[in-house]
Amino acid sequence: MKAINLFNKWVDLGKDEGMVTNHSPSVDYMLNSVSDSIVNRPFSFLDIGCGNGWVVRKISKIKNCTLSLGIDGAKKMIDKAISLDNKSKYLHLNINNLNHFTSKFDVVFSMEVFYYLDHPYSTIDYIVSSILKDNGCFVIGVDHYLENTPSLSWKTDLDVHMCTFSIEEWKSFFHKSGLKNVKASQYGAKNDWKGTLVIYGEK
Ligand SMILES: C[S@@+](CC[C@H](N)C(=O)[O-])C[C@H]1O[C@@H](n2cnc3c(N)ncnc32)[C@H](O)[C@@H]1O
Repeated sequence: MKAINLFNKWVDLGKDEGMVTNHSPSVDYMLNSVSDSIVNRPFSFLDIGCGNGWVVRKISKIKNCTLSLGIDGAKKMIDKAISLDNKSKYLHLNINNLNHFTSKFDVVFSMEVFYYLDHPYSTIDYIVSSILKDNGCFVIGVDHYLENTPSLSWKTDLDVHMCTFSIEEWKSFFHKSGLKNVKASQYGAKNDWKGTLVIYGEK
């Protein structure tokens, strides 16, 4: 199944709200990793795979945020986001085909999305070359990765396409795309669960 179809169904089941609760601690950690030098001046924010838009709304409340935009391929996620918010912007777009999307942002963020993509590295490379502004930063969080063994059954459990990469592979995508100050960390590890893998880089 395509991830977009799965997540349309999740809106009907109210599971998008569950992601707000479950992802919040890792998302707070990711947002705290953004350099002060970026958020202490006016900045624009893009959430790739924004779901129901909860992070877009959260960031839009920050004084220095001049634009907060979310994109997602699940029409029902975008419709819900728009119904909850008349301040921020939301676009219904397939992230696998970003090449007509040319707006530029200071902060590009994405939580629990990149392993669903057809070619994660190509998308990262496009974002860094064409969407991220100079001196901006790009931060992604993924829970499905090689070392996080409890996540490896998700492909079969959910019957959805996922790319499985190691921590070093995700990190190398950021390096190869030309980002600087690349850092990888894991947040929320407990027992077998290795935590959200957070990759951060600056342009
Ligand atoms: C696990 S959810 C995470 C949503 C949100 N970031 C959050 O933390 O609540 C993954 C999201 O990525 C979106 N997505 C997955 N593949 C996509 C694609 N190819 N194009 C656009 N959106 C996609 C899904 O529709 C879904 O809303």
